[in-house]
Amino acid sequence: MYNYQNLLVSIEAKIATVTVNRPKVLNALNKDTLLEIKAAFTTLATDPSVKVIILTGSGEKAFVAGADIAFMQPLNAIEGYEFGRLGQEAFMAIEACPKPVIAAINGFALGGGQEICMACDLRIAADNAKFGQPEINLGIIPGFAGTQRLTRLVGKTAAKYIIYTGEMFGAEEAYRLGLLNKVVPLANLMAEANAVAQKIAGKGAVSLKIAKSAIDIGIETDFNTGSIHEAELFGLCFATADQKEGMQAFLEKRKAEFIDR
Ligand code: HXC
Repeated sequence: MYNYQNLLVSIEAKIATVTVNRPKVLNALNKDTLLEIKAAFTTLATDPSVKVIILTGSGEKAFVAGADIAFMQPLNAIEGYEFGRLGQEAFMAIEACPKPVIAAINGFALGGGQEICMACDLRIAADNAKFGQPEINLGIIPGFAGTQRLTRLVGKTAAKYIIYTGEMFGAEEAYRLGLLNKVVPLANLMAEANAVAQKIAGKGAVSLKIAKSAIDIGIETDFNTGSIHEAELFGLCFATADQKEGMQAFLEKRKAEFIDR
């Protein structure tokens, strides 16, 4: 089911780990890799054996060093547009996946690498991680929705500085800007990502899925419409066995046993 040329997918205890696996080019994203990312996240979205997904890169040097520059160099305008749209669709498969996705950032996350981690729900970085949108140095702009997601995550002032200068910045600066949830030593990165994934996997799948929808749909709409969407989803929780169990467990002073329904 998860047999790819450029990705490794493993599943253990309801946690899927997707690893971009092109270490010779620092996990740069070419067309085939984007197609595989789109396919993998579309399948993981409905795989009942998976509750939480971790996305990382092969090796200790890079998470993803961007879109593949050798692949892009000869493209014409139409091909450039199509490549950008393909990346946007692949990253939308991550963002629209109804399960929490955690980026475990193990080194360079540049250009398309920073863009893909911004499509994830949570971002945990190793202390060696380096971020940036260096596209301006190549005569282009971010094209996998980076102008949109970066601005929403860090605001217009910081996004314009990052995109206009193309400067690289470290994990502490990324944390200060609000791009990251945690910064940990490289040696602890996967253990920390797994610990967070396990903690989330212990919650009810339905409330996780609709919490993601309330936040992601809400931020793209006006406050009142987002609040109405939230109220409808909040009401929907009361149709689940997990709501009855969660509240009963509280009243009985015991840990809730969620069944994801
Ligand atoms: C293709 C890449 C690559 C990339 C690295 N490599 N990044 N190949 N596309 N994005 C290749 C190098 O060519 C090299 O291949 C090998 O990986 C190792 O990289 P080095 O440069 O030798 O490593 P180092 O000196 O440590 O420098 C690491 C680095 C640098 C700082 C990350 O590789 C770099 O600046 N990479 C490009 C980063 C970038 O500009 N990303 C944004 C791309 S544009 P060889 O064969 O020499 O061993 C983008 C647009 C997205 O992402 C939107 C598109 C629509």
